[in-house]
Amino acid sequence: MTWIVTGGAGFIGAHVVHLLSRRHEVVVFDNLSTGRLDRLPGHVAVVKGSVTSPDDLDTLFGRYPAAGVVHLAACKTAPEFPRDARHYWPDNVDGVRNLVAAMTRAGVGRLLFASSAAVYGDTGRRRVRERHRLRPVNPYGVTKVEGERIISAYGGALRSLALRQFNVVGAGSHPYAADTGPTGLLPAVFRALTDGPELVVRGHDYPTRDGSAVRDYVHVEDVARAYLRGVELLSDPRPWSPRRRRAVNVGSGERTSVLDLVRIAGRVAGAEVPFRSGARRAGDAAEVVADLGRARRMSIGPRSSLTEAVASAWESWRRHR
Ligand SMILES: NC(=O)c1ccc[n+]([C@@H]2O[C@H](COP(=O)([O-])OP(=O)(O)OC[C@H]3O[C@@H](n4cnc5c(N)ncnc54)[C@H](O)[C@@H]3O)[C@@H](O)[C@H]2O)c1
Repeated sequence: MTWIVTGGAGFIGAHVVHLLSRRHEVVVFDNLSTGRLDRLPGHVAVVKGSVTSPDDLDTLFGRYPAAGVVHLAACKTAPEFPRDARHYWPDNVDGVRNLVAAMTRAGVGRLLFASSAAVYGDTGRRRVRERHRLRPVNPYGVTKVEGERIISAYGGALRSLALRQFNVVGAGSHPYAADTGPTGLLPAVFRALTDGPELVVRGHDYPTRDGSAVRDYVHVEDVARAYLRGVELLSDPRPWSPRRRRAVNVGSGERTSVLDLVRIAGRVAGAEVPFRSGARRAGDAAEVVADLGRARRMSIGPRSSLTEAVASAWESWRRHR
């Protein structure tokens, strides 16, 4: 049976599609706002449409009877980041509501949802567990909490799992599928190395080891494997316990500061990254790092190192910028 991947032409989506389409029939549903067709394998069908349109979704499910949906389509950046929620709401919240309603009409009962570590907000120094209270500090995080809430309201009627991805980096073995978004830290580091301008490290006075914000960077190939495992779990015919398994962290579990990442990128590229310190960005937490206990119990743990992820992204940057 077919698995639909919304947002499949995006950075993470393309990696998921490459992996998932080796074992399953896959159809990509994407409005191509940030997605690119040249990231996708030729044998995968693509339907152009938007999750903001119930008609587009009904046409999709009418054409392709599906076993389930991997839902990655979303807006992750906005020009006024992070203040203006209006940019995120139609894609990230109305989109989820439309999708689950269309799935219900079509009798499709499995859903993997691309959630984010942004649901947690500022977590302090302890690695964050899934049961930590959800107190996002920016509107993007609010939309992801809302997406999870809409999905969990379907309870046992929908086998669903939210993958709370931390900071996804790398290009892996699909070098044309690197993150090209305008706001990612790693693209900004590479831009500073190749074309300028110099990198501005936002915030140097956080209560962290070196004053820069601490994050959990995870290789996009580990994230793609997490989706594949999620599809396996949702396809298991045994009874599903929605309360216990509603969400899982997808991270590396490693504490990496922005300055650490700058140093690793410099080492990989063989050059020093030109940077200066700037003011904190509103809506950025000091530290967010995953506890991977539940992920490991579900066999969703990471395998790759950050250096491998950065090296694959750098290779892709050099070839395709
Ligand atoms: N990149 C990260 O570090 C990260 C971290 C946590 C969560 N996420 C989430 O993972 C998902 C994928 O992120 P990404 O980094 O690949 O982003 P991306 O922008 O590269 O991919 C998003 C894809 O969704 C498509 N899309 C956007 N709006 C759509 C709509 N209304 N209808 C149909 N398609 C639409 C885009 O064209 C694109 O192909 C998103 O839900 C994002 O919020 C990403």
